[in-house]
Amino acid sequence: MERDTRIGNEVRCSPGSHITSSAVLSDRVFLGAGVRTINDKTLTWRDPHREPILVAPQFGTGAKVGSGSVILAGVTIGARALVGAASLVTHDIPPGALAYGHPARVHGEAS
Ligand SMILES: CC(C)(COP(=O)(O)OP(=O)(O)OC[C@H]1O[C@@H](n2cnc3c(N)ncnc32)[C@H](O)[C@@H]1OP(=O)(O)O)[C@@H](O)C(=O)NCCC(=O)NCCS
Repeated sequence: MERDTRIGNEVRCSPGSHITSSAVLSDRVFLGAGVRTINDKTLTWRDPHREPILVAPQFGTGAKVGSGSVILAGVTIGARALVGAASLVTHDIPPGALAYGHPARVHGEAS
């Protein structure tokens, strides 16, 4: 877990997950093992000519993310949404949606 993350109550981050700086995990978020979050689309680090633009992912209340998923910069996982294991999440996932795949697509509603 890196700097400036905001973690709500009753949040579970299973082993091997990486929470990038400034990410927001609301109450009751559940991350499976090995979930990766990304905040820097352009991989700008100590470049004398460019400032990095960091946009961390956000996880709404009660959102669940399956093991091994990767959440790209700026993505919001909506409240109560469920992301399947090993997904690559490139766009926002609406609240309450069930999404999975490479890239992740909505396949219905989370139960
Ligand atoms: C996404 C998920 C919730 C779907 O469960 P489900 O609704 O019971 O779906 P099913 O197992 O009936 O599968 C439905 C279809 O989706 C596919 N599918 C299921 N999960 C998938 C995933 N994560 N990625 C890609 N495809 C997936 C199945 O292959 C199946 O395809 P088919 O109809 O062509 O055979 C579940 O598979 C999953 O990934 N859960 C996350 C578990 C996890 O990571 N837990 C962490 C703590 S241990």
